Amino acid sequence: MQIKTVGVIGCGLMGSGIAQVAAAAGYKTIVREVNQTLLDKGMGRIVRFLETGMEKGKVTAQQRDTVVANLTGTTSFGDLHECDLIIEAIVEHITDKASAYNSVEAVVRPHAIFASNTSSLCITELASQTKRPDKFAGLHFFNPVPLMKLVEVVRGLTTSDETHETLMAFTQSLGKEPVTAPDKPGFIVNRLLIPYLLDAIRCYERGLGTIQDIDKSMQLGCGYPMGPLTLLDFVGLDTTYYIANIMFDEYKDPMFAAPPLLKRMVLAGKTGRKAGEGFYKY
Ligand code: 3HC
Repeated sequence: MQIKTVGVIGCGLMGSGIAQVAAAAGYKTIVREVNQTLLDKGMGRIVRFLETGMEKGKVTAQQRDTVVANLTGTTSFGDLHECDLIIEAIVEHITDKASAYNSVEAVVRPHAIFASNTSSLCITELASQTKRPDKFAGLHFFNPVPLMKLVEVVRGLTTSDETHETLMAFTQSLGKEPVTAPDKPGFIVNRLLIPYLLDAIRCYERGLGTIQDIDKSMQLGCGYPMGPLTLLDFVGLDTTYYIANIMFDEYKDPMFAAPPLLKRMVLAGKTGRKAGEGFYKY
């Protein structure tokens, strides 16, 4: 199936990044937010990223102009009617997602494929909330979307071969590398990443080292771009806690159990970079 127009639901951190890379790859892209304030915030994030990229010599004026020309923002689901692919990147609540799918299904054509950027919810369950379970899959991007090369293409039990193939090709057309991931909590990346992050908190709780020394050890000793506690602040402690709980519920394996400190930091609002404080102050 040929994709010409992409709709992105949600213009938060992930949605704005996805809309940006789709527009940069030449797709007519329409991103929908619930209100103008959130839409302006998300569009502002895209413009800032492009301007910073130009200052760093990584983005040309032509690339910036391509994104600007291909990208439109809206607060109406109705404007998504011509989309061939809808990528949903809204809050991780099944009822909110189901309601968004319902609104989009009322306006799009029957061939349109739906994909969710969920990091933790069951793709088969999300697909069952639509009238097109065969045309539904996960498309899991990584933060920061314009810089991270990987996308997990997640097959639910009902995802058709054609949908899977179309999404693999679409992902490559964005300049990303796709992997096919199973519809199991955490897919591939978070299945490996979340236990590592939780373990780093447990190590800190047990006095293995200071915050700085734990981070420095993994960054300089293993060549990771960020130490685990910096990465936790970057991903968000609340997001990590949420994903860990979903994984623990499903697998009942202690390696997914949230350490007490994680829960308490989330309760205290110290959720990381976005809150101004997590393991570090920003
Ligand atoms: N436009 C274009 N390019 C840009 C840019 C911009 N606005 N900003 C930065 N870049 C380029 C830089 O020029 C640089 O390119 P180079 O390597 O060719 O020189 C590269 O991007 C790295 O940028 P910086 O040097 O400015 O910054 P850092 O070296 O500090 O890297 C980072 C920043 C890419 C975020 C790096 O720290 C990193 O990879 N961190 C780990 C991020 C990660 O693990 N993400 C996944 C989180 S898990 C997730 O998302 C899943 C969810 O479900 C939880």
